Amino acid sequence: MINIIDVWKGFGPNKVLKGVTLKIEKGQTMVIIGRSGCGKSVLLKHIIGLMKPERGKIEVFDNDITRINEQGMQTIRKRFGMLFQGAALFDSLNVAENVGFFLFEHTNMKKNEIMRIVSEKLKLVGLSGVEHLMPSDLSGGMKKRVGLARAIAASPEIIMYDEPTTGLDPILAANINKLIKELQNKLSLTSIVVTHDMTSAYAIADRMAMIYDGKIIEVGTPEEIRNTSNPIVQQFITGSAEGPIISD
Ligand SMILES: Nc1ncnc2c1ncn2[C@@H]1O[C@H](COP(=O)(O)OP(=O)(O)O)[C@@H](O)[C@H]1O
Ligand SMILES: [Mg+2]
Repeated sequence: MINIIDVWKGFGPNKVLKGVTLKIEKGQTMVIIGRSGCGKSVLLKHIIGLMKPERGKIEVFDNDITRINEQGMQTIRKRFGMLFQGAALFDSLNVAENVGFFLFEHTNMKKNEIMRIVSEKLKLVGLSGVEHLMPSDLSGGMKKRVGLARAIAASPEIIMYDEPTTGLDPILAANINKLIKELQNKLSLTSIVVTHDMTSAYAIADRMAMIYDGKIIEVGTPEEIRNTSNPIVQQFITGSAEGPIISD
């Protein structure tokens, strides 16, 4: 479904991706782990075509999106749902307008049809009857759920989550993980989740990949990652101060 081949990207002297290669199969949840600043968000932005690599190829639905024009990219982007880091809602719009934003802006669907979809998606994330509330009326966990409902509003085939549990307390984080798994099962999505939270990673991954020094240094099932013999991966997943990763 997604095939990333030898992707390079830098910002001036800061070389971030230095030959990333990764394949994500249809229907699976791939969790990408790595330290803060290693390039996880940058990689997601490449997959959705918001950034172009200096070198390499990214195939999505059998299209090489590094060679596609903006119009073609928009057609592909419609098949994606995205929960951005922070997942800010529009404060001046109510929950229904937030969840239905894409449908209101980019389709010719009638309002009552959109409202029906909005209710259905809110129900999927365990929030019914909150359509009229404003973001300021919501708790942090509810905001995340609304962000999730918005991400699935247009029935995407691929959904990407950037740090979905960062900043949440452990109970809330576990709730969001559960929800991500439920959505995955109910909607048979292909999911890509970026996180540095290992509890979340193990809870939701079919496969995991670790980025280190601009490359994917290991890919495997949670079980394989847990039993890795790679000292860098081992240090990261155990959160140890001792090991080959030098802290700065
Ligand atoms: N638009 C940008 N312009 C310049 N540098 C950027 C940009 N986006 C990200 N970076 C840099 O790329 C590196 C990786 O960032 P990011 O992908 O956000 O890390 P993370 O793994 O924490 O998500 C960081 O050093 C960051 O400063
Ligand atoms: Mg990030």
